[in-house]
Amino acid sequence: MEYILDTADLEAIKHCNEFYPLAGVTTNPSIIAKENTDFWTLVKNIRDIIGPDKLFFAQTVQKTADKMVEEACLLNEKTGGKFCVKIPISEEGLKATKRLKQLGIKVLVTAIFTPAQALIAARAGADYVAPYVNRLDNIIGDGCYVVSEIVKQFNIYNLPCKVLAASFKNAELVHKCAVAGCHCVTVTDDILKAVLSHPMTDAAVEGFEKDWESVYGDKTILDF
Ligand code: G3P
Repeated sequence: MEYILDTADLEAIKHCNEFYPLAGVTTNPSIIAKENTDFWTLVKNIRDIIGPDKLFFAQTVQKTADKMVEEACLLNEKTGGKFCVKIPISEEGLKATKRLKQLGIKVLVTAIFTPAQALIAARAGADYVAPYVNRLDNIIGDGCYVVSEIVKQFNIYNLPCKVLAASFKNAELVHKCAVAGCHCVTVTDDILKAVLSHPMTDAAVEGFEKDWESVYGDKTILDF
């Protein structure tokens, strides 16, 4: 499973790109609006940090297929490097997806809440679908179960579409998606930190340091 960062906060992107095995960065209109800055400058800054080989996902804000295609082409051209346009699931969105596949532009169909939505998006040619895990849990759904059913469907029908699960509240949801065979998750920097942290790890490392220092003081292996 690949890890993608779900933010347009440049400091968080810089940090996570340095320390974590990131496959890319996802944004959406809410995430971009949160930064409240010039759109293309922000896109360029993100691209400069992650480089051309990591996937950059940006969402169209258009409502009709023709305009979605036009915006996707502009985003693809101006973003440079590996790019994938995000399109919310709808009739217009499916029409745009089919057209963009003919043009060779990668598409993620987003705002997915059911396996049926995911299947039809994949049939339209989506490269990725993004089910919203925590938002489903918030309405007493089971986001991870939906993710597992989408993965199962894609396997049954041998579809190349990848499941990029989004909307996470904690590390446990990320783990459940991994076990379900989800291909990618997009998460905030806080969730990434939670994924690698464990109090038992801290205790173990503290023990190693104490035992070493009791014999070798502040010397490290480099000093021998
Ligand atoms: O792009 C979708 C994802 O960012 C949603 O996450 O936390 O707003 O539910 P959240």
